[in-house]
Amino acid sequence: MMNYGVDTSVSYMGMTLRSPLVVSASPLSEDISNIMRMEDAGAGAVVLYSLFEEQIPAASKQDNYQAKYNSGQHMFSLAYSPESPTFRTRPDEYIELIRTAKQKVDIPIIASLNCTSLGNWINYARYIEQAGADGLELNIYIVPTDINLTSGEIEQNYLDILQAVKAAVKIPIAVKLNPFLTNVGNLAKKLDLAGADALVLFNRFYLPDINLNKLQVEPNVFLSSPQAKRLPMRWIAILYGQIAANLGATSGIHRGHDAVKLIMVGADVTMLCSTLLLHGIKQIKEIELELCAWMEQHEFSAISQFQGIMSHQNNLNPQTFERVQYIQSLKTFKPEWSLAHDTSYYFG
Ligand SMILES: Cc1cc2nc3c(=O)[nH]c(=O)nc-3n(C[C@H](O)[C@H](O)[C@H](O)COP(=O)(O)O)c2cc1C
Repeated sequence: MMNYGVDTSVSYMGMTLRSPLVVSASPLSEDISNIMRMEDAGAGAVVLYSLFEEQIPAASKQDNYQAKYNSGQHMFSLAYSPESPTFRTRPDEYIELIRTAKQKVDIPIIASLNCTSLGNWINYARYIEQAGADGLELNIYIVPTDINLTSGEIEQNYLDILQAVKAAVKIPIAVKLNPFLTNVGNLAKKLDLAGADALVLFNRFYLPDINLNKLQVEPNVFLSSPQAKRLPMRWIAILYGQIAANLGATSGIHRGHDAVKLIMVGADVTMLCSTLLLHGIKQIKEIELELCAWMEQHEFSAISQFQGIMSHQNNLNPQTFERVQYIQSLKTFKPEWSLAHDTSYYFG
């Protein structure tokens, strides 16, 4: 699609999107009018907020094998029990939202699911497909609090979930990864071979704090800053060209230049969340303007012309490159105050 004289269309999960700017899962998509505003503001697609198994009444406990991976989460169980208002959305509301969104907007609607039992991953993937979602993102969020679990066992869990869902539905499937894996690239490769249509890098972990007055653990969300994009930038640069699955970038994409950098390392889509929660949905249009202006300025008429040009694909020795970058960045660092003429504070 031509936008301000440049073609911003991209291919993602087998779909053609008018823009690489995709809205990632957040409470903004709870409201259909917001989804319509996202389309109006130029979003290429919308990933809906996640449906959590805890929102599913009488969720099957029989095959709750994944619970062992989350053992120890009792710390949060009081604040986040299914009875809590946090879990107000019911699955039928979620399914209804998919149906309504499909009637009201033309851009693809990608649902998001987070379950703890294999049975519910499969059941709800089916319901989501039947409701008309164009794709499904698996929000696999495992905090392995059991120190006896090996990295191999944890990774197998990702593969089991993907394989079970892929066998159950025909819609394209994305896996949203977290960065705390021994070798992100190796799991990415295995997920790719297991049929993932896209990998989304990276989910953010919501690290709890302690309320010193109430003597309670307090989960809270803090929004990202643009610096957060460095982590997906590194890993997308490594993965680009090595796997067939599309690469979705999430974390720290606040401005057009952030999106450009992620595309340069190889992202197919760049996802927006914190920036929309901070500045509103209209920010999609601003980011699109900045992206198009940058493309025009650098005489790129299509996204494909600069996608991946800063990836490791053209790098003969990525390992040496990473090491040199690491050493250089440490050795060239200067604290700002030491750059002032008066160094007496520093030395004396
Ligand atoms: C308030 C809030 C709610 C979120 N809800 C979900 C969710 O339901 N499912 C999910 O996969 N990610 C969720 N995320 C993660 C975002 O989709 C996104 O991946 C992450 O915040 C990093 O992007 P950002 O730096 O642009 O915020 C949420 C983030 C925030 C801030």
